[in-house]
Amino acid sequence: MTVPPRVTKAVIPAAGLGTRFLPATKATPKEMLPVVDKPAIQYVVEEAVRAGLDDVLMITGRNKRPLEDHFDRAVELELALEAKGDLDRLAAVRASSELAAVHYVRQGDAKGLGHAVLAAAQHVGHEPFAVLLGDDLIDFRDHLLEQMVEVQAREGGSVIALMEVPHDQISMYGCAAVEPGPADDVVRITGLVEKPPVDEAPSDLAIIGRYVLSPTVFEVLRTLPVGRGGEYQLTDAIQELIAVEPVHGVVFRGRRYDTGDRLDYLKAVVRLAADREDLGPPLLDWLREWLAEQPGAQGAP
Ligand code: G1P
Repeated sequence: MTVPPRVTKAVIPAAGLGTRFLPATKATPKEMLPVVDKPAIQYVVEEAVRAGLDDVLMITGRNKRPLEDHFDRAVELELALEAKGDLDRLAAVRASSELAAVHYVRQGDAKGLGHAVLAAAQHVGHEPFAVLLGDDLIDFRDHLLEQMVEVQAREGGSVIALMEVPHDQISMYGCAAVEPGPADDVVRITGLVEKPPVDEAPSDLAIIGRYVLSPTVFEVLRTLPVGRGGEYQLTDAIQELIAVEPVHGVVFRGRRYDTGDRLDYLKAVVRLAADREDLGPPLLDWLREWLAEQPGAQGAP
């Protein structure tokens, strides 16, 4: 039996305009918005590296130069920190440039997630590869991507991450119809639909932004008709894959933070800061006091 190729490449689409965060994202890519003290995109690259994927391809667009700068050396800054003997900050600055081999390709026109992933075809070649969407942060203590890579090695084909969401929210996501699969949390996918109306959704299982895909997806993407919103949808391409290869879903029950939406972004910052040893205790003390002072709180003036 031939050993299936190991997944080593991660593709991170980062060409979006970030309109939900304007004006903050007028001149700064949304991927660079800080989540506590690291840009959101760094969490995603760290997650890929932890899962053994240290070849990262970012699909970028115009105005994304800060992303390239962030994963490159910052020689002047490093020299200044070194001269001051500020070794902790020096290590933090160097860490992002030493994480992975980061490559970039520009998408040109932004015609949807399927179109962005197709831009990775030449770099990826004929191996299975991962796609990580920057708006979804998976807590570093949960090992979703590692599990998906294992399932792909065992079952072949493609694997996508699913999460149960409240029924009235399913139309914000790609939605999966599933059958029981090889494990309690590994299901066989029988159908996929991008952002269905609530009353047409086949389940409450939403696609969250982690995929391990077979390279066959590129062949499908090359001839894919435009889908929902006039864009080339990755969900539609994976739906076509179901006819030719196994497609499994890993049902994630861990901690996911959505940084693509302003309210969820604020929640993500507070939750991740609250878990930090240096910031958590004083932040929580302050939050308790502040909440108690709010109108309507018990004992509030
Ligand atoms: C994309 C995908 C969708 C998926 C979502 C997860 O949508 O098209 O299937 O559920 O990411 O975050 P977007 O949020 O980019 O519109």
